[in-house]
Amino acid sequence: MEQLWKSGAVYQIYPRSFCDSNGDGVGDIPGIISKLDYIASIGVKIVWLSPIYKSPKFDMGYDVADYYEIDPEYGTMEDFERLLAEAKKRGLRIVMDLVVNHTSSEHPWFRAALKGEMPYHDYYIFKKGKKEGVPPNNWTSMFTGTAWEYVPELGEYYLHLYDKAQPDLNWRNPKVLEEVENILRFYLDKGVYGFRCDVINQIYKESFEDGAGRNPSGRGQEHYLMTEGNHRILRTLYEDVFSKYEDHIVVGETFNVDIENGIRFLRDKELDMFFTFEHVALDKGLFGALPKKVNPAKLREVLYKYQKSIPWNANYWENHDQHRCIARFGSLKYRDASAKALGTLLLTLKGTPFIYQGQELGMLDAPMKDPETSTDCAAQAVLRLTKGFHLPKWLRYKICNGIDRDSCRAPMSWDNSINQGFTPGDKAWLLFAEDDGTHNVACEDKNPESVLNFYRKMLDLRAKHEELTHGNFDPLPSKGPLFAFRRVLGKASILVLINLSAKAIKLPVYLRNIEGKTLLSLGEDIPAGLPPFGVRAIDVG
Ligand code: GLC
Ligand code: CA
Repeated sequence: MEQLWKSGAVYQIYPRSFCDSNGDGVGDIPGIISKLDYIASIGVKIVWLSPIYKSPKFDMGYDVADYYEIDPEYGTMEDFERLLAEAKKRGLRIVMDLVVNHTSSEHPWFRAALKGEMPYHDYYIFKKGKKEGVPPNNWTSMFTGTAWEYVPELGEYYLHLYDKAQPDLNWRNPKVLEEVENILRFYLDKGVYGFRCDVINQIYKESFEDGAGRNPSGRGQEHYLMTEGNHRILRTLYEDVFSKYEDHIVVGETFNVDIENGIRFLRDKELDMFFTFEHVALDKGLFGALPKKVNPAKLREVLYKYQKSIPWNANYWENHDQHRCIARFGSLKYRDASAKALGTLLLTLKGTPFIYQGQELGMLDAPMKDPETSTDCAAQAVLRLTKGFHLPKWLRYKICNGIDRDSCRAPMSWDNSINQGFTPGDKAWLLFAEDDGTHNVACEDKNPESVLNFYRKMLDLRAKHEELTHGNFDPLPSKGPLFAFRRVLGKASILVLINLSAKAIKLPVYLRNIEGKTLLSLGEDIPAGLPPFGVRAIDVG
């Protein structure tokens, strides 16, 4: 059976910021449908949608109030079915986001739970405090602050590893598993290709003892990350549901995953692939928020570690939680060149590449703003926390801006008209990204040298050379900012050389004068070296 995810790339849509069809300033499903031809033109095969379920959107849809309904801001179930059908016509498959570590506090299950009604009370994790006024343990939420909320009517606390509007489900309760299996079948039967499973490595809480350390966020994770119960549940979901559908994809978002558990996820058929976080932590300095410079050699070490030990990776630079990649791993001065160098790496490493909307244009973050105005609950939580720190305002704002995810959720740039073609109305729900008026679909489409046309060429190359999808990863000795590796399939092999720095470099002697057919060459020719962010891909047979 052909597995589309082994050859096809994934394009992530953040629906709220992709395309607004009706002028309310919020992206929607009809907007997505109107852009399917564009998406297909990039050369991706799979489209992952961040959540579109009914939600009060305290965490922008990662707080689901009804898994069987589409949020009215985004459209209706008929719109969604039309999206599936129209996507299929263009050879695209749709992946949904599965958010089941928690629901929204407005989900009817939780509303019933709050009244102490059975069976719903046991769908969530309620516990008595240690003593009056003291939560059951010292765990802190991923968004900082205590992970417990007191319910006076019940005399109990409920657990929320994220916002208090996101109560954690109780995965010890077999009813929860049954409900989730039904949700999965409901969408798979409609023709959905699979799921990106939100924070899926923390759903089963092994114990409720105090956490070690003093981390203001995520304290206690040694009691719930990648527990045996978690592995068991994933195996069950795969066996009971996914294995019954021919070709499908199950991608885990696995916070702080390690190699050992990663190997198990794949080996024991729990997930098809999973997102790692080590590479995107490399530029996190003080408070996990202030940016620091990334050492490309360190980046190479981290990426190669997973390439060598995990049979199939989910590769990414960007998503709706991560600041845009050029300023982090590339260079604003070499905006296009570094966007292409990073794109080359993404599309030539082994695994499935994930491209976040706008990344194919070299989009940047939205400009920094007063964090008080952020719509992101994570930024708001950090703002609350840092109020107690007696820090100067500018530093507090800088920390919050480092966390704030509004910046990477800026609306997609379709053209250089006043609202960038995102909305026919007069206002978008969020600030637009920083731009020079040329990094939008309309301009880049016409420019053969654009980042967009690079992505198209590169995806085409990937489709034509099986080495780049199914080949082994063979790292070659290299130093500094040079990435040198081969992708080998049988007798065929492609050599990839990337200079991930703003300085020209010399190539090691053994990589000079390589014989073969050049498939890709970016940046000027310099003798025995590579220019800033220069790239070569050579078919070395
Ligand atoms: C994941 C999502 C993020 C969300 C969190 C809680 O990390 O990507 O956007 O805030 O889970 O659901
Ligand atoms: Ca709209």
